[in-house]
Amino acid sequence: MVSLQLLVFGITTLLLQVGCGEHNKYDEYTLISLYPTNPQQVEAARHFYDPENRVEILKSSRGVNDSLDVLVPPDRVAILQKYARSNELQFQVKETEYGRKFEFVERVPRRRVLRPFNVYDYNSFGSIQEYLDTVATRHPDLVTLQNLGSSYQGRRMKLVKISADPNAGNPIIFIDAGIHAREWVAPAMALYLIHRLTNDPDARRNELNGVDWYILPVVNPDGYEYTRSSKANRLWRKTRSKSVSNCYGVDGNRNYGFKWAVSGVSSNPCDKETYAGPKPFSEPETLMVRNVMMENAKRLKLYVSVHSYGQYLVYPWGFTGDFLPKTWKKLDSLARSVSDAVQRAGGKPFKVMSAGKWYPAAGGSDDYAFGAVGVPYSYTMELTNGYEFIFPKDLLRTVLPQFYEGFKVFGAQIRKEFRPLEYKAKTYTSSSAENSSEED
Ligand code: ARG
Ligand code: ZN
Repeated sequence: MVSLQLLVFGITTLLLQVGCGEHNKYDEYTLISLYPTNPQQVEAARHFYDPENRVEILKSSRGVNDSLDVLVPPDRVAILQKYARSNELQFQVKETEYGRKFEFVERVPRRRVLRPFNVYDYNSFGSIQEYLDTVATRHPDLVTLQNLGSSYQGRRMKLVKISADPNAGNPIIFIDAGIHAREWVAPAMALYLIHRLTNDPDARRNELNGVDWYILPVVNPDGYEYTRSSKANRLWRKTRSKSVSNCYGVDGNRNYGFKWAVSGVSSNPCDKETYAGPKPFSEPETLMVRNVMMENAKRLKLYVSVHSYGQYLVYPWGFTGDFLPKTWKKLDSLARSVSDAVQRAGGKPFKVMSAGKWYPAAGGSDDYAFGAVGVPYSYTMELTNGYEFIFPKDLLRTVLPQFYEGFKVFGAQIRKEFRPLEYKAKTYTSSSAENSSEED
């Protein structure tokens, strides 16, 4: 009898741990949006918090008609309802049984020979690494990989440098993605950029003409793999370093050493969202990004940190909403041109503003690039809207090329403004551009 019970127990735990039968606490959660329609309600949306700290705020409201999205366990729905009612906020149940829409991820290693890398999919960190090696081997004239070091858990991080002429002293565009683990569409975008820049013959003539692109597709690989490990971990945001209080992770985008921790951060290591870390650059991952910026400070003219979601394109300052940098008009107008291009390609426009006007939060990589490194154009790009962090992979084919049109505008501006003088006169000869079709 005892052994039968043990057997039944064993089987159920097994079922809970593997595949589709696994238990996912988010299965019972409800996604709720609070809509402010006047400034007073915006304030109320800003100040919402759960005293028991059991709800998860997925997105803050930017202002009027921009939702505050909150993921709520069943027994907390009532307190949100109450808060909405007493502050006259529009209350919307967006989705019940939220976790059931999480897509299943395949964890058995693929055989590359049988199935080549798919840029329109969410790939494991292992396959991403393999892909980067393949790209470098296939395009030795264009691509070099720089080893940056290891993540907290020992994953090797590689910077992809794409340059048609590494000795020309071209201005550099540096793009990183995936500092936040759950924002899967961001690494997918970075990988798509690598794919287009190396395979599209037009890219050699245009985007790579006079501009070098440095791309770090997964800044937080430990967190990324953690979100792939089970549906219960799908919404993890931070790194995976262990603190003295035995909690895990630091918000990488609060960990940069510029105006560190002055606003919008938590000092509690167990805070699941915005813990700034014990000190600036406590995380090996943010330190590596800083090193890339510092080593290339002179030539670095544009930095974009790719995130999701909300369809925002924001620029410094992020640590405060009280004032803007002197050059904010340039930052603003380039962002609007990028947004227009994405819209022309069939995508949604971006909400363009300073990060701090959306919500102040210090220690972001955008402020660091702009304020400490002196990069003239610095942005945080929040891709997609309407699916929160669970952007369906079937839509990647549609949106990634639309966003790419925005990156083309970034490239054109950097070329126009910063391309080395002696190169401006030269006309490009297309002999080196291979005419290969898509191969990755
Ligand atoms: N959603 C991003 C975050 O919370 C926005 C960052 C914007 N930049 C900033 N410095 N606050 O990390
Ligand atoms: Zn993010």
